[in-house]
Amino acid sequence: MKILALQGSARKKGNTAKVLGWVEEELIARGHEAALVYLHTKNLNGCMGCAKCKNVVDDVGCVQKDDVPDILLQMIASDLVIFASPLYFWGVSAQLKAVIDRTYSLYTRYHEPGHASLLEGRRQALLVTGAGGWDNNAEAAFTAFGRIHKPHKTIHAGQLYVGSCTTPADMDASVREQAVAFARRITA
Ligand SMILES: Cc1cc2nc3c(=O)[nH]c(=O)nc-3n(C[C@H](O)[C@H](O)[C@H](O)COP(=O)(O)O)c2cc1C
Repeated sequence: MKILALQGSARKKGNTAKVLGWVEEELIARGHEAALVYLHTKNLNGCMGCAKCKNVVDDVGCVQKDDVPDILLQMIASDLVIFASPLYFWGVSAQLKAVIDRTYSLYTRYHEPGHASLLEGRRQALLVTGAGGWDNNAEAAFTAFGRIHKPHKTIHAGQLYVGSCTTPADMDASVREQAVAFARRITA
């Protein structure tokens, strides 16, 4: 499977990077082709909501000329995209949210006959790390992720929240096991 990870944390050696590293190791060990885009180094603008993309059916319709159209093309060319992020104020980081918002340009005629998506049939997974526990904290990110598959016409491949994070050095073998199990689940 061709897999693209969108790393939404600016911290290259942070908690999300550590868990994602374990996920990628397992994916590669299982023969998958894994690529990573470190979003913090990219020039990412938010969606302008101009809806000009809605007139473009068979290509990335976004009119903005930053680094996002190329990332969207990489998403289209992948069988599975992993959205990876620290939890920031109950949601994903601004870097990742900007890319997710710009996927607005990948589908047309939502809620109408002829709804089409350039991501149709692809798999998507969510990996989030946070300082807090699950309750009253991580649910919103999972809920939002659960809803994007309808406009995208994608398959919800799986989700993982690693909570109570302090530093990457403090992550024990049980977190690695969760990462490995997640890698297997999202490609099964
Ligand atoms: C701006 C900001 C907002 C945060 N908001 C939350 C939050 O809502 N819930 C939570 O559990 N942790 C929150 N945290 C903690 C981070 O999610 C946590 O430390 C995460 O594992 C950091 O990942 P990283 O090392 O990959 O950047 C926040 C941290 C920052 C800097």
